[in-house]
Amino acid sequence: MPALRTRRRSGYFADTTLAEFAPFRNIIVKLFWATMADSATDLKIRNEFNRWAAAGRGEEMEDHHLPITLPVLERMQIEPLDRIVDLGCGSGWLCRRLAGLVPRGRVVGADLSAQMVRRAHALSMGYSNLNFLEGAADKIPCRDGAFTKLISVESAYYWPDPGEGIREIFRVLAAKGSAWILINYYRENPHSHQWGSVAKVRTHLLSAKEWEALFRKAGFASVGHRLIPDPTPAPETYTGEWFRDAGQIRDFRRIGALLIYGGKKDLNLS
Ligand SMILES: C[S@@+](CC[C@H](N)C(=O)[O-])C[C@H]1O[C@@H](n2cnc3c(N)ncnc32)[C@H](O)[C@@H]1O
Repeated sequence: MPALRTRRRSGYFADTTLAEFAPFRNIIVKLFWATMADSATDLKIRNEFNRWAAAGRGEEMEDHHLPITLPVLERMQIEPLDRIVDLGCGSGWLCRRLAGLVPRGRVVGADLSAQMVRRAHALSMGYSNLNFLEGAADKIPCRDGAFTKLISVESAYYWPDPGEGIREIFRVLAAKGSAWILINYYRENPHSHQWGSVAKVRTHLLSAKEWEALFRKAGFASVGHRLIPDPTPAPETYTGEWFRDAGQIRDFRRIGALLIYGGKKDLNLS
């Protein structure tokens, strides 16, 4: 009897499993290749930013991004108990600043690049309310509703699927949470468009309206945007690869960065 039962059971699975899965075969194959493509894209981005970290560019970015980030911190209405995540945190300079603003709360920095996260850890010894995680924007390694606020500076246009990242942000925010994404590469500032060909990874050049639409699609309320000019004077001369010349840096900063924001419920912005 046991032998018969085994044979019948294995025969059942042998016959029906393949037959039952046949209609889904194409979907399964597509899902498999989509997953492989996703991991290949993530790997490329991770490797590129690991190189940036090794070259010390994580720390350099503080000087470039602080003048456009300070006005965002003012708008976020940060409170001492807030739990804040900085998505695409790089070497963690903003997380350390945020940790001082939420003495009774918590700050988590998340980044796809292991080397950025390693540097962020090393530079943040002695902070009791701050930690760092390796993770992708479209799979934030945190539970639903974990944070009251999310900020992301100069990272979102590198995400393989910005819409998926914004849906994840919505998931990890608490009921009254808010999200604040700041970027320098967007349609309305033509002086950064050349970055698309300079960057060694794929970038997404979207307009303010397109970013807003992604927020609304994810479920955000009170969605809006602002341009944040950078008051830093342009250098006298420039010979790098990201801008044509010093004049273009001046024009780029005059238009400024794009801030897109939204709340899980209506935001009471003054
Ligand atoms: C230009 S750097 C900005 C870093 C930091 N926010 C700052 O202002 O110094 C972009 C960062 O986004 C991270 N990043 C890119 N794609 C990501 C993704 N899909 N998920 C999480 N982090 C990502 C990179 O590893 C990198 O550290």
